Amino acid sequence: MNSTQEKVPFRPKYWVTLALFVACALTILIGSNVAYQALTTLNQLDVTEAERDHWQRPSEVIQALDLKDGDSVVDLGCGSGYFSLKLSDPIGRNGRVIAEGIRRLSLTFLWMRAVRKGRHNLSMHLGDLDDSRLRPSSVNAVLISNTYHEFTAAQSILDHVRQSLVPSGRLVIIDRSPKGVQVQASAQQEHEISSGQVVADLRQANFVIGNRTDRFIESDPENESWWMILAHAHRTRFSIDGVDRIRTNAR
Ligand SMILES: C[S@@+](CC[C@H](N)C(=O)[O-])C[C@H]1O[C@@H](n2cnc3c(N)ncnc32)[C@H](O)[C@@H]1O
Repeated sequence: MNSTQEKVPFRPKYWVTLALFVACALTILIGSNVAYQALTTLNQLDVTEAERDHWQRPSEVIQALDLKDGDSVVDLGCGSGYFSLKLSDPIGRNGRVIAEGIRRLSLTFLWMRAVRKGRHNLSMHLGDLDDSRLRPSSVNAVLISNTYHEFTAAQSILDHVRQSLVPSGRLVIIDRSPKGVQVQASAQQEHEISSGQVVADLRQANFVIGNRTDRFIESDPENESWWMILAHAHRTRFSIDGVDRIRTNAR
């Protein structure tokens, strides 16, 4: 064997370095791809939401919540945060938007959106299917947008919402009306629910209906109509030592 045919001796350090280099390169490649996808999705969401602004009537929804500077407001079932981000302005720097959801990933995504847009009065809040895990008497208003039809434990959620509201608290619910006669079990599949059903649920949960607009949105891009309901926690007047007091009913 001449010198040119001599085998290069096995050098473990060389292979370890090469493997590390490939691993790093792959991590950077996958990482930048994930970051790129996330950024694209974030930008795409802004575009979709700008289109939604044309038909969703967000200002009227926010007006119904009657928010004041420093209020705490919950966006229950916040999804990607269409309303959470809009609620940030009317309550000011001293207020708090509690973006409540049941999916960690969606909440993380919304957190990124809030940071990117400099909305520092938003906090992410993980709830359960039957319990939004809100502190009692801690919030001024709750919004449930396009989410009620998904509830599998509506009475339990409404009970917790009522307990979380301060005595003057407001609950606003918007959702899609059924196109035809609705079978109750179809609400989740069809993503729609009648306002009559929700009013009945609210009364059962000790809410008082303040306002109900059955044709709040006449037709969305899917040609469906939406309703809006404003409700208050039912309160009883009672007196202690001749002084009138108001108590939010807790069952
Ligand atoms: C169609 S999205 C609407 C999102 C958002 N509210 C909006 O208007 O864009 C419905 C959301 O409700 C959430 N959801 C379903 N059941 C829920 C529950 N019991 N509590 C909180 N969120 C719930 C889903 O995870 C989903 O994010």
